[in-house]
Amino acid sequence: MDFKRSDFPEGFLFGAATAAYQIEGHSFGGAGPTHWDSFAAGPGNVVRGEDGAVACDHYHRYAEDLDLLKYAGMDAYRFSTSWARVMPDGRTPNPEGLDFYDRLVDAMLERGLKPFQTLYHWELPSALADKGGWMNRDTCAYFGDYTGVIADRIGDRVAAIATINEPWCVSYLSHFLGNHAPGLKDIRATARAMHHINLAHGVAMTRLREKGMKNCGVVLNFDHTEPKDTSARAAEAAATWDAIMNRWFVEAITKGTYPAEALAGLAPHMPNGWQDDMAEISQPIDYLGVNYYTRHKVTADETAVWPHIASEEGPGDKTQMGWEIYPQGLQSFLTRLSNDYVGDMPIYVTENGMAWDDAVEDGAVVDPEREKFVSDHINATKQAIAEGANVQGFFYWSLLDNYEWAFGYEKRFGMIHVDFETLKRTPKASYHALKAAIAR
Ligand code: FCB
Repeated sequence: MDFKRSDFPEGFLFGAATAAYQIEGHSFGGAGPTHWDSFAAGPGNVVRGEDGAVACDHYHRYAEDLDLLKYAGMDAYRFSTSWARVMPDGRTPNPEGLDFYDRLVDAMLERGLKPFQTLYHWELPSALADKGGWMNRDTCAYFGDYTGVIADRIGDRVAAIATINEPWCVSYLSHFLGNHAPGLKDIRATARAMHHINLAHGVAMTRLREKGMKNCGVVLNFDHTEPKDTSARAAEAAATWDAIMNRWFVEAITKGTYPAEALAGLAPHMPNGWQDDMAEISQPIDYLGVNYYTRHKVTADETAVWPHIASEEGPGDKTQMGWEIYPQGLQSFLTRLSNDYVGDMPIYVTENGMAWDDAVEDGAVVDPEREKFVSDHINATKQAIAEGANVQGFFYWSLLDNYEWAFGYEKRFGMIHVDFETLKRTPKASYHALKAAIAR
């Protein structure tokens, strides 16, 4: 790869990321049912109807996985704790689940890895989904209770905590586009989820501060958005999409406001009195996590429902997901977020990576496409630092091939190949290349 550790400021962290439901094996250790289990069991929602029951069996194989992180010379590991493992019914603690995270965090520390915890990476306990999930304001208070329980158990040893992973996916992708659990296409549900997920962040922040926790933040996803052509209607459509996708969450959390372009469609469906929540939502955070994958070109489609837009991938090379490879988008977001929203606050690239149809041949996986992708995006990060963004770390998504949500086990994002029959791990060539670069 075309960079070295010494290109980066002292203390810059290199790591890899995962999420509980995608790797652990949800059928183990007394975890409760989640809305992803029932979504996967619905017709046509997930490729081959696959779920996270076994996944990578990280629940039993975590020591081997953490050894692979350490062997690569990584500094930090971004993982998530599963609400439904810690509280199978969303409210009652499960000692077995808490013990697992206790062991996991100790195992990271034994290997010199900084634990970067995420509290919610999407596996909502079914008992709470049954009561309306993120459409129901009460879910925010229950999330606060879960935050308190898990912070009491491992909060003394984690290096950083993020409240929510990708609130846009939790709300818009899941309640308006219907692609993720609970699979709704309902604007009223969407408006409520888009507000309640921000409130859940605020409630969790309040709880973390009560516990004296430091290095608390949130992980947001950003999609580089450009007008498809030079027309005024394409510019307007791109601005609307940028407001829904890229501004709604960061603006609420850092400024306490929602963008007018998004409220134009959502305001009639918002929960009563939402304005009164904005102070809790916008309390200070310590860092911003940025997930970045691709770019879209947007234009107006007056025949479509609000937000009246049509979007498509840009013209460049695509990954196995069909996502355009566009590293400049990462550089541009890191600079924009620093200039317009967070100033000198630390930013971490908490996810960036690509899926490819990797296969093991003669015991090895050769993935030059991923080597280039990672190198180009790490260099884009370096460029943003040179332009003044206070970026303090980069986490590759993902450590392991895993359960890629609606795509099941078909899309391979890992630096480590997983054979889902035998669960054998095989580090890919990109893993070895990253190891070499961060050792330089
Ligand atoms: C992000 C998710 C992560 C993974 C990657 C590919 O949206 O946070 O769980 O699915 O995309």
